[in-house]
Amino acid sequence: MKSIGLNLIILNLVNVVDLLNNDDIFKVMFNRTDLLCPEFCNGYRLVSCCMCYVQKTREKLHTLNVVHNAKTEYPTIEKPNVLNIQYQIIHRFKKTKRLPVNICNFTGLIEIDFSNNEIKSIDNISCVKSLDVLIMHINRIEYLRNDTFIGMKFLRMIDLSYNNLRHIEPGFLIHMDGSLLNFDVSNNFLTTVDVTNVLWEKQPAFCKTDFSFNEISSISNELHWTCKRNTQFGYGGMVIFSNNNFSHFPNFSEIGFKNFFLLGKLLDYGFDFRENNWICDCRIYFFAFKASLVLDKQHRDYFELSCHYPPEFKNILLIDFIKSQTLDRLICNLTIADRCPPKCRCFYQPGRSRTVVDCLGTGRRKLPSVLPLKTDLEVDFSSNEISSLLNDTGSGNIIYSYSKYISKLDLSNNTIKIIPNDLVFKLRNMNLINISKNKITKIPRTLQTLNPCQIYFGEVVIHCKCKDIWLQNWLPSFHSKCFNNTRVYCKYNNEKVHILNMSKHGFGCRLYNEDILWLNISLAVTAFIVTVSSVLIYIFRFEIFITVRKILKYFKKIVVSSNLYAYDVYISCNEDDATLRHWLTSSFVPHLEDENIRVFLPFRDCELGSPREEEIIDVMSKSLNFVIFLCENYDGSADLWVQKEWKYAWFNYRYDINREIIVINYDTLECKYIAKKYLGAFLKIHDFIDFSKKDKHIKEEVYKSLQHVQGDAFATNRNFNDLNAARSAIHMDVTYTNIDNEMANLNIKHDDSVDAT
Ligand SMILES: *[C@@H]1O[C@H](CO)[C@@H](O)[C@H](O)[C@H]1NC(C)=O
Ligand SMILES: *[C@@H]1O[C@H](CO)[C@@H](O)[C@H](O)[C@H]1NC(C)=O
Ligand SMILES: *[C@@H]1O[C@H](CO)[C@@H](O)[C@H](O)[C@H]1NC(C)=O
Ligand SMILES: *[C@@H]1O[C@H](CO)[C@@H](O)[C@H](O)[C@H]1NC(C)=O
Ligand SMILES: *[C@@H]1O[C@H](CO)[C@@H](O)[C@H](O)[C@H]1NC(C)=O
Ligand SMILES: *[C@@H]1O[C@H](CO)[C@@H](O)[C@H](O)[C@H]1NC(C)=O
Ligand SMILES: *[C@@H]1O[C@H](CO)[C@@H](O)[C@H](O)[C@H]1NC(C)=O
Ligand SMILES: *[C@@H]1O[C@H](CO)[C@@H](O)[C@H](O)[C@H]1NC(C)=O
Ligand SMILES: *[C@@H]1O[C@H](CO)[C@@H](O)[C@H](O)[C@H]1NC(C)=O
Ligand SMILES: *[C@@H]1O[C@H](CO)[C@@H](O)[C@H](O)[C@H]1NC(C)=O
Ligand SMILES: *[C@@H]1O[C@H](CO)[C@@H](O)[C@H](O)[C@H]1NC(C)=O
Ligand SMILES: *[C@@H]1O[C@H](CO)[C@@H](O)[C@H](O)[C@H]1NC(C)=O
Repeated sequence: MKSIGLNLIILNLVNVVDLLNNDDIFKVMFNRTDLLCPEFCNGYRLVSCCMCYVQKTREKLHTLNVVHNAKTEYPTIEKPNVLNIQYQIIHRFKKTKRLPVNICNFTGLIEIDFSNNEIKSIDNISCVKSLDVLIMHINRIEYLRNDTFIGMKFLRMIDLSYNNLRHIEPGFLIHMDGSLLNFDVSNNFLTTVDVTNVLWEKQPAFCKTDFSFNEISSISNELHWTCKRNTQFGYGGMVIFSNNNFSHFPNFSEIGFKNFFLLGKLLDYGFDFRENNWICDCRIYFFAFKASLVLDKQHRDYFELSCHYPPEFKNILLIDFIKSQTLDRLICNLTIADRCPPKCRCFYQPGRSRTVVDCLGTGRRKLPSVLPLKTDLEVDFSSNEISSLLNDTGSGNIIYSYSKYISKLDLSNNTIKIIPNDLVFKLRNMNLINISKNKITKIPRTLQTLNPCQIYFGEVVIHCKCKDIWLQNWLPSFHSKCFNNTRVYCKYNNEKVHILNMSKHGFGCRLYNEDILWLNISLAVTAFIVTVSSVLIYIFRFEIFITVRKILKYFKKIVVSSNLYAYDVYISCNEDDATLRHWLTSSFVPHLEDENIRVFLPFRDCELGSPREEEIIDVMSKSLNFVIFLCENYDGSADLWVQKEWKYAWFNYRYDINREIIVINYDTLECKYIAKKYLGAFLKIHDFIDFSKKDKHIKEEVYKSLQHVQGDAFATNRNFNDLNAARSAIHMDVTYTNIDNEMANLNIKHDDSVDAT
């Protein structure tokens, strides 16, 4: 038998039929003992052979006559003369319009042949319970209800071919629970058939269901039948759909096979789909692809379905596509309604998982405004006159909006000059971008975000500038397989030089960038200046300190309150020098004290017996000015104190801006002989008084150099809470021991005179 089986061998059914012998098969399957399987069916297709070549053990049937009642015009069955148990009716070419009215009275009817009449309905046939064969070939039956043959356990054959059948109610064959082996509705006007009239769930096997020569183009599922995991279709049979109007396989999910592989349950069914209007396009691809997976496992039937459309595939067998592995030729053309741009050719090609939009050479100046709503678009705009990729056209630029869905973009042979930067970011997801043969004058640096193997520029000639040097790193090397994608040449000395062969100099890059050079120089200079000045500052730290301090004091009007200091002047000198001592006590100190300056002269004012150093520290911390007589080093006990006084003087001077040090170069020393560098600094910056000057000048200069306390504070504090007041009082006590009263007067007078000044 030449037929097409869609036998998807996924479920491996155990062929229990092997266990049966030929005679038992109808007894076991249909509880019929009158049917026999012919001897020659001992073979491979045991079931299908037995079902189709069944032999009936027949007794002699008595033929009944159908007559037309003269009065009613209704056909009736004549009462038989012989009462027999089994009858048959053979009533052909009689223009009879309906079944005999008394047909239900003849329960012994086994075979009915009403072919070539004009019968329109067989609704009441089910009362003939023992009917075995019903032949209604060439009548005018228009429909079949799903209960028309209900309960007819022995009905083995129904022939309704060449009728006017337009509709068969769903749920008929799937519930057929008798011994129906042949159901023939060929040559009718059926346009659709329900899946529940194709599959048999109740009956374990059948021979043939014939839907051929109808106009069936689809399989419906009105009852929403679904194939379950435990659904059994038994041993099936042949379903003939040849010479219909099928163009596509039904959506298997819609006809109840939610899982495609459940179709494997139809293992033993044979489907004949030849001579239909098969359209070999993308829709048949899915079916063919799945079938191809199991093709080599098929042992019984072949995939001989041939294409009717498109013309180039006419009469090509689908199986040939599978065998030659050219299933990718099964495509669907997309139209303008599917958003294919005008003049372009668009098709969906599931075999290569892509949708091609081919606008090659369509003379367009702009990008179209829509693209098919598919993923994996391969868009070809090559050989057009597109000049701009900017997103400034009215409806926006489709490359921007579709970038996620485009996998290949061909813009070659256009007149594009510039690739906008924001577009480059959109190109990142695409596998291939062809911009060769355009008028590219500039390669944007943003391209660095793309893989150079993704993008084809072909040959580009540019004016190379130093800033284009990144291309040398980005472009694939000579040995890379993508090397030919983009070959950038520089115009150099009226020649084309490959950019990878250009030197830095050729790019016009300075060996060192001028800015960098200047930066380096200025850094070096700065470092040098910083080093030198640090050294200088270190060497002249005291001089600088003293000078800065002076400048600060000059700009900052400092008001010193006398109550912060007990003494105005502390005089440090070599006590062992009698001349100096004499000069101080007789001339210098009295002169200062006449100016109401509180003087501390160590050899005069130190308390006898108290620790000298502590007193020096204490008094110096309360003194505002330090007058230091520089003298030569000598080995004497006084030198020890002088050294200490110098130290504390400097110490106090450093931390209190109010304080002053007045250096008097008593021995006319040069700075290099001064061991203490800080005092030497005074000499160096010539901030000292030379002792060789006239006595009067020295006094005046010292007086001028002193930091003076604020006049008022000086006066008010002197009498009451000043330590020096007490000291001078004591001093006066000593001086004027006998004239206590006068002293008091003098004291008052003295104060008055200060107040007056
Ligand atoms: C088989 O058929 C006989 C009558 O022909 C009936 O009595 C019997 O119940 C049937 N058995 C089954 C399992 O249907
Ligand atoms: C046939 O059926 C009719 C009713 O339609 C009934 O009156 C008649 O008795 C029946 N005849 C036989 C022989 O059973
Ligand atoms: C079928 O039988 C019913 C009664 O059982 C009758 O009314 C009806 O007309 C019959 N239909 C046909 C088409 O004979
Ligand atoms: C018969 O067909 C009708 C619809 O025409 C449906 O509703 C009903 O379920 C069907 N009966 C069976 C048993 O499938
Ligand atoms: C077959 O189906 C196509 C559409 O698929 C339809 O145009 C055509 O008329 C149908 N032919 C017949 C004979 O029904
Ligand atoms: C089949 O139909 C289902 C639901 O109706 C749908 O989800 C599915 O995509 C369809 N399959 C095909 C191949 O068209
Ligand atoms: C698709 O279109 C091309 C030409 O435009 C045509 O040759 C081909 O037959 C069409 N294919 C289908 C399946 O419609
Ligand atoms: C480039 O496009 C023009 C039309 O714009 C076409 O004539 C020419 O043949 C194309 N060149 C190539 C190499 O495709
Ligand atoms: C492109 O232009 C359209 C409209 O002109 C705008 O809606 C869209 O946001 C723009 N896209 C980009 C990435 O600039
Ligand atoms: C890019 O386009 C050019 C010109 O149309 C073509 O020669 C080349 O093969 C294309 N490259 C790729 C990878 O498609
Ligand atoms: C690039 O193209 C040249 C010829 O134009 C060819 O000789 C060379 O092998 C190609 N290089 C690569 C890597 O494909
Ligand atoms: C680059 O220079 C090398 C030799 O220096 C030469 O062999 C090669 O062909 C040049 N490449 C190009 C693309 O000009």
